[in-house]
Amino acid sequence: MIRSSLEAVCDGIVSGDKLKEYQEQCLKESISLQRLVNDMLELSRLQNNDFPIDKVELDLLMTLDDALRTIRILAENKKICLHYRRPKSEWYVQGDYGRLCQMFTAALDNAIKYSPSGSHVWVKTWETSEVYGISIKDEGCGIPEEEQQHIFKKFFRSGKTKENGSGLGLAIMKSIADRHCIGLEIQSVYGQGTDIVFTVPLKNL
Ligand SMILES: Nc1ncnc2c1ncn2[C@@H]1O[C@H](COP(=O)(O)OP(=O)(O)O)[C@@H](O)[C@H]1O
Ligand SMILES: [Mg+2]
Repeated sequence: MIRSSLEAVCDGIVSGDKLKEYQEQCLKESISLQRLVNDMLELSRLQNNDFPIDKVELDLLMTLDDALRTIRILAENKKICLHYRRPKSEWYVQGDYGRLCQMFTAALDNAIKYSPSGSHVWVKTWETSEVYGISIKDEGCGIPEEEQQHIFKKFFRSGKTKENGSGLGLAIMKSIADRHCIGLEIQSVYGQGTDIVFTVPLKNL
């Protein structure tokens, strides 16, 4: 599509308003191609255990703050109410700041993307003597039970979804969680909603 549009533009076949439309379409497609290539590169790096990831001491709640900051705009645009009561503590763990932020962003992005306008998304946190827990729960379309076993496979997308996407978000999220020994569970009821639960062991990090 991008190539045929550009060929038409280069051959001078399109002009006026159509030209602008073609240019915007090419820009949109090149952005999503770039995103796809970056996601594929990122996933292959994460899945290669010889590729080191930089872990430093960081506050996990700050990575969640950053992810929420990015996502809040998407939620507002879609009139989805995002509920989060931030604990006043600091959750120090060893990790890769950017990637942990990316992990939460991907989960929040799905919660917003697969939920209808006017619905609610809850971000909950808890703390035990062994883990820090974070859950992201939506009232969206949910995932059919028979598909749930495939959900972390790369390029997997529900047969029912009409949204755009590459199907790499959950695979990247799982790889980041694995590289940090973070537990990741999805509970979903088709037609009712999805709950993603991260459990971060205090000792393993
Ligand atoms: N919160 C959610 N609610 C409903 N379906 C979801 C949710 N998160 C993920 N999915 C399903 O899992 C698929 C894979 O998700 P993901 O890997 O993030 O890829 P993408 O969002 O690019 O399609 C999605 O296409 C969608 O069908
Ligand atoms: Mg996604």
